Amino acid sequence: MDHETIGSEDWDELILNLEATIPVYDRINRFATIGQVDKWRRMVRQRLPSEDAKLLEVGCGPGSFAEDVSGVDLVCLDPSALMLEAAKPRVNSKRQERGDSEVEFVKGKAEELPFDDNSFDGACSLFSFRDWYDKRAGLSEVLRVLKPGAKMVIVDPAKMNRIHGFLGWLWMRVWVGAYARIICGVKDHPWKWLTKTYVTFGTTRDYVRMMEDVGFENVTAKVVFPGMATIWEGKKPL
Ligand SMILES: C[S@@+](CC[C@H](N)C(=O)[O-])C[C@H]1O[C@@H](n2cnc3c(N)ncnc32)[C@H](O)[C@@H]1O
Repeated sequence: MDHETIGSEDWDELILNLEATIPVYDRINRFATIGQVDKWRRMVRQRLPSEDAKLLEVGCGPGSFAEDVSGVDLVCLDPSALMLEAAKPRVNSKRQERGDSEVEFVKGKAEELPFDDNSFDGACSLFSFRDWYDKRAGLSEVLRVLKPGAKMVIVDPAKMNRIHGFLGWLWMRVWVGAYARIICGVKDHPWKWLTKTYVTFGTTRDYVRMMEDVGFENVTAKVVFPGMATIWEGKKPL
């Protein structure tokens, strides 16, 4: 595992661990982020088109972000059938209440997006980019399926430097780890993988460079909560 790739054995194990978090996912996330996660999700929504648009969420998980996206057509992609099963009723019942169109749920990976070129007006990935097994390939794929001028927005906990990375590791290991142990009732809880992927995840700057390398323009990154959330955004050139 390094800041660009995750080997196939590790990735398969990571997916199993992510699936094991489904029943407690939102509860632990809120605790781990001291309630800030909803604000960060809002910040992502504010950066994307809010009407007459077709958006893609890559790595939708159990639907924690998707359920509050309104006014646009949405496609949610995830490689885990269990995640999609958890997301579908939750997201579509909320959308139905609001009069929004049903979400299209698609099983797939960021690295091989099953969509035509230039098909989305915006794309996002929340707390999933860290788990992509080939981040460069995934970003190239997102660029391919975006329409010219459309934006990709990512949120994930990058580090600014090594000291910051060490403090983030401590936070996840001690604070989040202790809570997850209590909630899951087992010492070997699946949130241990959060620490693993955090440790190998790169710096804010690494992914600004990567987005620029694959062809995004006007790439920016904003640290919204040190160690826990950075928002990157970049546009497909016209
Ligand atoms: C921590 S959940 C994030 C859920 C949701 N986006 C949120 O806002 O909370 C990470 C998700 O990324 C998915 N994932 C992992 N590797 C992926 C890949 N290569 N391509 C797309 N999604 C991936 C996992 O299956 C998991 O559902």
